[in-house]
Amino acid sequence: MPGFVTEAASLAHAVEVIQRGGLVAFPTETVYGLGADARNPAAVARIFAAKGRPADHPLIVHLASAALLPSWARKIPAAVPSLAAAFWPGPLTLILERHPDVPTIVTGGQDTVGLRVPDHPLALAFLEAAGRGLAAPSANRFGRISPTSAAHVRAELGERVDCVLDGGDCTVGLESTILDLSRERPRLLRPGAISAEALAEVLGELPAGRDGHSPRVPGAMAAHYAPETPVQLLDGLQLEAQAAALAAGGRAVAVLARRPARHPLPGCRWLQLPDDPARYGQGLYARLRELDAAGCDRLLIQAPPAEPAWAAVDDRLRRCAGREVKVPDTLFD
Ligand code: TXA
Ligand code: MG
Repeated sequence: MPGFVTEAASLAHAVEVIQRGGLVAFPTETVYGLGADARNPAAVARIFAAKGRPADHPLIVHLASAALLPSWARKIPAAVPSLAAAFWPGPLTLILERHPDVPTIVTGGQDTVGLRVPDHPLALAFLEAAGRGLAAPSANRFGRISPTSAAHVRAELGERVDCVLDGGDCTVGLESTILDLSRERPRLLRPGAISAEALAEVLGELPAGRDGHSPRVPGAMAAHYAPETPVQLLDGLQLEAQAAALAAGGRAVAVLARRPARHPLPGCRWLQLPDDPARYGQGLYARLRELDAAGCDRLLIQAPPAEPAWAAVDDRLRRCAGREVKVPDTLFD
């Protein structure tokens, strides 16, 4: 078992930090979050400062249980109880009309709020012990890859975070599915481990996609993509040829594939992730960090299969490659 189970002292310390308006990074099943008391605007302001995140990007509020929803949402749509029963605790964020008491800084000035109950024993113990909702974006600096381990958080934020709760490696590894229920029909704003098809089983219909009225997060794509190494998505058949061509031109090349290389490729770093969407998603961000640290000139990534089970991975890889992102980026927040 990971060591965190016995770390009652560090949990008590983390709660104290939250009570006095500080920042605590904590594990969830998706990625690590950078948490502050969601009812304390000064504490929430520190999240934006630590991340270097623009103030108009709303934060997700994490709750210990769905029973707390009425303090955060003005209206609870009919589908919410069954969605909560089916998927909470779990990697699903619901966008609901905000309760008037939710501080404006949490919602980035929008009239909606994002809410989720995370599925991680340490996160749930922390939320219970803190006895309040925690506003928490992913615990990375703005524009960078989300952290999936406590070591990643330290590397990202160092002394900018007052306390890091270590709950081991995240089991999902990709950010939560975001479902907007604040409008006339459900809309999927971000694909994640809970698929559109799984949501449809509860909703009775497939959620729609984003549209022109979906909440905007201005300016997120502007400066840089994560990772820092330029990424190219390629069909599996093209990997060896493209890697060889780049290496012949003197470039340091890395490849992230779902299979081994067909033949040796001198000067090329070849990394493999499992050919299974859940296990691939779990390992993706750690591999991207590793490859970024290797300082290659180019990263070639094998494009995922065009199948619903790969939708979340496909979304993240396209964003990494900076391609076909037709909507404002909500990933590298
Ligand atoms: O899995 C996750 O969702 C992780 C863990 C820590 O819970 N959190 C996370 O937070 O990915 P963040 O802030 O990095 O990304 C949340 C996204 C943001 O891009 C934000 O635009 C969107 O959720 N969001 C939050 N509140 C919203 C709202 N009221 N309306 C529309 N989008 C919202
Ligand atoms: Mg983020």
